[in-house]
Amino acid sequence: MSGFHIQNNALYIDNVALSDIAAEYGTPSYVYSAQEITNQYDRLANAMKKALPADRQPLLCYACKANSNVAVLAHLRSLGSGLEIVSEGELHRGIKAGFDPQKIVSTGVGKQASEIAECLKAGIHQFNVESLPELEHIQEIASGMDKVATVVFRLNPNVTGGGHHKISTGRKRDKFGLNRRSIFKGFEMAKDMSHVNAIGLSIHIGSQVFTVEAFKQAFEKMPEIVQDLRAEGYTIDRLDIGGGFPIIYSDEDLLDLDAYAQWVNDIIVPLDTKIIMEPGRYLVGNAGVVLSKVLYVKDTQDQRFLVLDAAMNDLIRPTLYDAYHGISPVQNIDATKVLYDVVGPICETGDTFSVDRSLPIMNAGDLAVIQSAGAYGFCMASNYNTRPMPPEIFVKGDNVSVIRPRQTYNDIIDIEKIPDWIGQKG
Ligand code: LLP
Repeated sequence: MSGFHIQNNALYIDNVALSDIAAEYGTPSYVYSAQEITNQYDRLANAMKKALPADRQPLLCYACKANSNVAVLAHLRSLGSGLEIVSEGELHRGIKAGFDPQKIVSTGVGKQASEIAECLKAGIHQFNVESLPELEHIQEIASGMDKVATVVFRLNPNVTGGGHHKISTGRKRDKFGLNRRSIFKGFEMAKDMSHVNAIGLSIHIGSQVFTVEAFKQAFEKMPEIVQDLRAEGYTIDRLDIGGGFPIIYSDEDLLDLDAYAQWVNDIIVPLDTKIIMEPGRYLVGNAGVVLSKVLYVKDTQDQRFLVLDAAMNDLIRPTLYDAYHGISPVQNIDATKVLYDVVGPICETGDTFSVDRSLPIMNAGDLAVIQSAGAYGFCMASNYNTRPMPPEIFVKGDNVSVIRPRQTYNDIIDIEKIPDWIGQKG
């Protein structure tokens, strides 16, 4: 057995009981399954292998904003993945994890000078350009360094996709991408730029996109614009078709990956370009949990609360997007179910993981997991309420490795300084 499974009424990750991990490393902790990540990578790669000709297979560039621990990155690199980055920090992580810079693509609406320079120095595959001022900025920096920047322009297709309005990125009012007119202007400007080589387009309509039709609608914008750009004499050699593939958090129907791959084959492959994809959540989302302990069971006349030692600073998604995450006890999984509001210790009502959730009965000291926390979990955590960030633990078979230790109070507080102009009195 691999990944998360139940054995003797208790929750395991690969060969290891989650209760053993809690006993050894404490709670709250993030725990990831390497095997689950491998399974998802293979699922996606195989769907593409099945639908697309062998010589037209996409370069999968893992969108590392989803989970950027260098061990997770190194694992994906070892599977053959490339990397999509959105900051200089993510570039440094990618280099540390051993990625070939020629498999790294840089995206984002606000690329900074040092980030562009570092990417050029490393020799990344391409910049996905989001505005014309950004194009000029890249030219200026590349010319100062005597490097040539390979760029593609991100098309805003004016398509709605994404599981929540805050993570939809392809509508015309969204800050992302360029409309058709600006893309033509971009290619025209690039023609006269000495240190920019514009050779393609990119697209990304949002995250947790459930309908294959939304992807299809976006892809269908490509053939016409590619043909029209080529008719003007521009080279279109690469199409980056983004990420956004969903995972199951509750009882959603999973996106039909085969249908998706078929659309890529039918709409994108005939355009005769190299193909890049940027999956994030799909590769890591279901591979991680927050392992937590019940601090108190608080029964009021109105509600029964499970107060966990994990909080919104550890996993912000329920608070920020009203996101649903499965919750389960780690032991006694088949106990009688009762209704709980599952909350954290932070002094905000928003620090709530679920309301009126039917869960096996639990007591103070019991362990619980918050599921599907492998994507946009730890990487969005904070020190709010001066809570140390939890450790990240990576498991493969019998191997359990701490890939980031729990923060100490010293880690958080020692770097802060009291200026000497503050008086002693008081
Ligand atoms: N490419 C670009 C340009 C992106 O902006 C994103 C995600 C991805 C790829 C990867 O998308 P994915 O395959 O993971 O859906 N914090 C939010 C999700 C934000 C997604 C931002 N962009 C959440 O917790 O749901």
